[in-house]
Amino acid sequence: MLKKLRQAWASQDVKTFAGYGAVALVFVTLIILAASPFATSFMQQWSRADVETRSKLVLNVTRDNLETLLSQDNSSAVKALLERIAEDEKVLAVGYCDERGNLRYPTKLMPAIFSCEKVARSDTDSFSSFHADGHDLLIGAFPVLSGRGHLVILNDLGFAKQRGAEIRRYFLAILAIILLATIIVATFVAVSFIRRWTLQIRHTLVSARSGQTVPAGSGPFEHEVRQLIRQLDLNRPGMEEDRTVWDASAVRRLMETDLAGTEVIVVSNREPYIHNRTAAGVDIQLPASGLVSALEPVMRACGGTWIAHGSGNADRDVVDANDHIAVPPDTPTYTLRRVWLSDEEQDEYYYGLANEGLWALCHIAFVRPTFRESDWQTYKRINERFADAIIKEAKTTTPIVLVQDYHFALLPRMIRNRLPGATVITFWHIPWPNAETFSICPWKEEIVQGMLGSSILGFHTQFHCNNFLETVDRFVESRIDREHASVTLGGHETLVRPYPISIEWPPAAMAHQKPVPECRAAVFARLGLSPECKLAVGVERFDYTKGIVDRMRAVDSFLTEHPEWKGRFVFYQAAAPTRSKLTSYRAVQEEALAEAAAVNAKHGSEGYNPIVLAVRHHEPHEVFELFRAADLCIVSSLHDGMNLVAKEFVAARDDGQGVLVLSSFAGASRELSEALIVNPYDANGMGATIERALSMPPADQGERMHLMRDLVRARNVYRWAGQMLLDANRLRKKQRILDLTEQEQKAHRWNMFSLT
Ligand code: F6P
Repeated sequence: MLKKLRQAWASQDVKTFAGYGAVALVFVTLIILAASPFATSFMQQWSRADVETRSKLVLNVTRDNLETLLSQDNSSAVKALLERIAEDEKVLAVGYCDERGNLRYPTKLMPAIFSCEKVARSDTDSFSSFHADGHDLLIGAFPVLSGRGHLVILNDLGFAKQRGAEIRRYFLAILAIILLATIIVATFVAVSFIRRWTLQIRHTLVSARSGQTVPAGSGPFEHEVRQLIRQLDLNRPGMEEDRTVWDASAVRRLMETDLAGTEVIVVSNREPYIHNRTAAGVDIQLPASGLVSALEPVMRACGGTWIAHGSGNADRDVVDANDHIAVPPDTPTYTLRRVWLSDEEQDEYYYGLANEGLWALCHIAFVRPTFRESDWQTYKRINERFADAIIKEAKTTTPIVLVQDYHFALLPRMIRNRLPGATVITFWHIPWPNAETFSICPWKEEIVQGMLGSSILGFHTQFHCNNFLETVDRFVESRIDREHASVTLGGHETLVRPYPISIEWPPAAMAHQKPVPECRAAVFARLGLSPECKLAVGVERFDYTKGIVDRMRAVDSFLTEHPEWKGRFVFYQAAAPTRSKLTSYRAVQEEALAEAAAVNAKHGSEGYNPIVLAVRHHEPHEVFELFRAADLCIVSSLHDGMNLVAKEFVAARDDGQGVLVLSSFAGASRELSEALIVNPYDANGMGATIERALSMPPADQGERMHLMRDLVRARNVYRWAGQMLLDANRLRKKQRILDLTEQEQKAHRWNMFSLT
């Protein structure tokens, strides 16, 4: 029983604990109550035996003397002797019953009603009970003078009764002590149970709010509390996507209300901060990456952990033992967890499968994709490594994991298998080609199945979503629900949704910008341009998908068709070197350098180059200064998921001026319809558009720019993240409703079972 009580205490099974406690208490009480009469009667018998022994002892000591005195008929001496015997505290009276049954020599206290008839006068010692004057008496009759008479000793048995009563009192006192001890123990137990329950309710509340799983049996009210919270949660109106003005504080509010307590983990190949060793010490670089510039402000707003490849040569020097570093460096709000790759792994996973394979496959830029088996094996291994990092970093069983881009097509399923409670939102930052194009990939089924481990799969445009659904339809056996745009594979449903990515509003790089005329003056001075000159800019990574060579050809066409602009027009191309290890990238860089030289040779003159190609990384404030100084910005991607440069240019122009020339093959063209939309493959058409842009009246520019600015302001990156997080929240709520219904059905079945 003690073992059972110990177990019940440990498992906080209050019913069992109280049940066993009560049984133990009743058991002990019954034993005491049952033992009490036995103990009393034992005591009485023992007292009587004691009295008998004493009486016999008295007789043995006095028999000879008494018989002598009786023989001598010495009445006074006999009387005196009997009086002495009667002095014993337990003796009430003594007398002598003679041959004829007469009582002689009775001592003082001999009860009047006593007569020798009342005792058995046998040849042996005998004892009998007698009640007189309120006393229980034990009468001992001892034959003397060879049985001719009997000495009678009347013992008062009151003391035996008294002893019995005392024993009963002792037993009752013990019982009272046990009851008191039980009350003290029960109070202590109740207080500690209540204390533990309070802690558990608090723990359950916190974990239930974060959607975390509380281990079964971790508290008697866990189930009820969880149910209640869920019901309250489900009834609470959430943030409304369309009525919300999306900014950093709205994302923070979302995380503090609808998603309170939810852990957010971002996974991307490119890290937001790169630490590099320089002669002057360690330098922190912000990479030229649309993905990073979109997600970084979101992470600043909602905190959490960002897991990425540590690619800087000083990255290892600045992390702690867990490969963590708090960022942003000036005001840390989230944790960057770095994952390490060897050079060989980078070659195969990043340069090989991701960039020579998937990048080329998904961008229709007519660069043939390369698929190597060794690259694929490494890609799988690195996806596993990032899955390990996620599992290690996750502090809860139900985090929201934001998987970024084509480097991690297999990761969503790996997370689903190892962390089934996670809400995995995968965002594919590049286009998704049509099913026929995708079909050339040797691992198409594995890639699609890997992506379908996501809870939500996002693309920039509806067009890319449709392409993906077509691809699933062609290559993976699954159920496609076109009405709800979802795919169910192996019982798991993935929503496929468009989330057009954007930039933060207002962009951080705008914080210290000077007024537009000052920016223009500074840039013009740096480039040595005269004030009446018109400036066009292009800002990109040096990537073959960006159509850099094509826009140079358009400049060539423009100056050929409109030679009057020679000397009055300059195109500045900022091109950040990227993936230069790859032949296709080196080729496009060389081609661009040659094309710029050719155009400059053809249309330039002494001190005038119509194309300035700046092959280096430009910091964000420098890029924004360029945008503010320019008359037009050319974004002529051959194919682009979204293109944030277009949106940044719009955000930079708070003066409402400037013209955006935008490729129809960039996702941004679906939103920024007030831009001048071009086909980058049509050099003459694009040349004519440049001329149209340069001649556009300021009022026209203003109208277009204001409409585009309104759109980018409202559809900023916080809305992009907010929409995904709201959808994730809806999904989590839906799951909770399903769980709740299932639990209620279980409870109902159990009730029915109990009733029958
Ligand atoms: O478009 C996909 C993307 O990940 C962008 O987000 C980013 O601009 C670019 O590729 C970054 O490339 P990388 O990380 O290889 O330099």
